[in-house]
Amino acid sequence: MSWLRMDDVRERARRYLPRFVADYVDGGAEDERCLDHNARDLAALRLVPHCLRDTRAVDTSVEVFGRTWKRPLGVAPVGFNGLVRPNGDVLLARAAASQGLPFVLSTASNARLEAVRAAAPEAAQWMQLYVMSDRAIAEQIVRRAAAAGFEALVLTVDVPVSGMRERDVRNGFKLPFRPGPRTLWDLASHPRWSLGMARHGAPGFVNLSESTGGAASAQVQAALLARAMDRSLVWDSLAWLRRLWQGPLLIKGVLHRDDAARAAREGVDGLIVSNHGGRQLDAAPSTISVLPGIVQAVDGRLPVFVDSGFRRGSDAVKALSLGARGVFVGRPAVWGLAADGEAGAARSLDLIGTEIERTLTLMGAASLRDLGPANLSLPWNPS
Ligand code: FNR
Repeated sequence: MSWLRMDDVRERARRYLPRFVADYVDGGAEDERCLDHNARDLAALRLVPHCLRDTRAVDTSVEVFGRTWKRPLGVAPVGFNGLVRPNGDVLLARAAASQGLPFVLSTASNARLEAVRAAAPEAAQWMQLYVMSDRAIAEQIVRRAAAAGFEALVLTVDVPVSGMRERDVRNGFKLPFRPGPRTLWDLASHPRWSLGMARHGAPGFVNLSESTGGAASAQVQAALLARAMDRSLVWDSLAWLRRLWQGPLLIKGVLHRDDAARAAREGVDGLIVSNHGGRQLDAAPSTISVLPGIVQAVDGRLPVFVDSGFRRGSDAVKALSLGARGVFVGRPAVWGLAADGEAGAARSLDLIGTEIERTLTLMGAASLRDLGPANLSLPWNPS
């Protein structure tokens, strides 16, 4: 089967992965409405191209915190990538680096953060942070991330509690993993995945709580298992983080324009507009629909990034036209990883990247600076 479009990559991933893993990756919260709105709202926007412009050289690169990304695209933090392929985060980090793109490592990784950083030392890597009730754990992660050379810290703020992902409940997917009869059947029908995991000792997989290989040791994993997020985390807590972390600090999971304005006032260095890929508040709006208000509220004081549901280069170009500095993707990278390891993830990122370049060319835009809100229209309403 060809890799013409992202759906092809997702199909391949679903064939390789046991169902409970594929559902963990693909699923959203409750009725999966948010997942649906992300896709629909992006599809509803149209791009209005300019004509007769010189596009012999189209430059898709973008500057972020002193780094040049080859394309305005990055890999979002995804937890438990070790379930998809052994050493999944190391492979993903290398794939992103090979494409000249940044990689964000999840707190809930099965890999040691030092190992992931060392796997692509020349590339831009950011560390994502969940703050659990025992704040000493976060302090430890932040210190280790700084020592390992992660370049920015991404504080995820949309998980005071985990969203209700009904697919996971139905599949009996919870950690520590104790497969029931249905999952055992599922595993038996996916011998390639199961053998691969068995051969590598299934790092952090069969019983995650006993794993010592995680991003921040067994302690974090235990806290994640207990879903013990710190619900007392508030704006004032940023001062605590600032004392621990000297580099750029981003907040991920902002949807309200007032929060975006507050983040700018508090001196946050960047925002990631996100609804967690539709996995948290199912009634949340699509990110593309709130992006213009947030860009306006921030008024150029800090870069605004966006994720959740971006599957095509044209989707990314829509967000860039609305003022986003870059777009992150979660599932597309993980589908590529499942489909063909590091090479698959690289290919999947290149698919979107190539589409961004072609879309810019079709738009008559020689660089991202040529894009603006006037390049967008909503569907024509004849009534
Ligand atoms: C996530 N996401 C996420 N975010 C985060 O800050 N920390 C995490 O550990 C995770 N874990 C995670 C697991 C899985 C399986 C998925 C699909 C997503 C959210 C992620 O960073 C990002 O916001 C979304 O994935 C973006 O949406 P798309 O590109 O997957 O549609």
